[in-house]
Amino acid sequence: MQIRKAVIPAAGLGTRMFPASKAIPKELFPLVDRPMIDYIVEEAILSGIEQIFIVISPWKKTIVEHFNLTYQIRGLSERQLVTEELLNWQSLMDTANISFVVQEEPLGLGDAILQAKDLIGSEPFAVLLPDDIVLGSPPATSQLVEVAREFGSSVIGVTELDGPEISLYGVITPRKCDHNTFQVLSLVEKPSSNEAPSNLAIVGRYILTPTIFGELESLKAGNVSEIQLTDALNNMLLHESIYACSLKGMRLDAGNLLGFLTSSIKLGLHDPRIGVPLKQWIKREFDEGNLLDENPGS
Ligand code: G1P
Repeated sequence: MQIRKAVIPAAGLGTRMFPASKAIPKELFPLVDRPMIDYIVEEAILSGIEQIFIVISPWKKTIVEHFNLTYQIRGLSERQLVTEELLNWQSLMDTANISFVVQEEPLGLGDAILQAKDLIGSEPFAVLLPDDIVLGSPPATSQLVEVAREFGSSVIGVTELDGPEISLYGVITPRKCDHNTFQVLSLVEKPSSNEAPSNLAIVGRYILTPTIFGELESLKAGNVSEIQLTDALNNMLLHESIYACSLKGMRLDAGNLLGFLTSSIKLGLHDPRIGVPLKQWIKREFDEGNLLDENPGS
């Protein structure tokens, strides 16, 4: 099974990050000094994806500009105004073959993916959610591709979560195949923590067979206000097996306020340019008791 195409849904309203996400699409929020979506595009390229379709909403055209205007960096490099690191980053982005699709109405993740149906055609494809960063080698999408090849099926990325935050995610009912692979028996979107069927939360990475489009269309015909990918996957289980792979690597959920801030700090701590001084600053603040201050800023 070859996976050549990927969909990156970036059309959501971003209400968890209002009002900042009203001014700038959440997918362009910087994590250290890179827009969030660049980490995702990088992962797709390093996983062998040849064609990327980014689904945007009509008011998120700045995402298109971000990818179109990157050539400016080359102009600046001639005047030696940018670092070699940035140029390397630019070269990688240049290898991406990116097109855009517009989701006219905010009808949910499932509907966003449905917008790419004609572009995907009849082959299996990857889906990468831009606010879920997974840093690892091999990259998360490659890990899923390997499992998809082994089973010839759709595969979902999951991670173990043992706490109340499981209720922020889709959760699978698993049947264990080996230490990091599971057959999916059912899925539920954002269950309460005491109703979660396991501690395996869905990370925003999927390899999907094109059967998913029929399931998404059936949901849409049912006139629901928001089309959930998780519901379509559940319905797909009636016809096809789905597997899950516990992803290796550092997973950062930058899709909510706390996660966004902690993701920035973690990435900063791993950044060779600022990691050491950032760690020293946190340590100093902690030693001086400032991090335990109940009235910060007072
Ligand atoms: C989406 C999916 C959910 C998954 C999550 C991962 O939810 O619907 O199943 O666990 O992404 O980030 P969202 O975060 O878009 O509400």
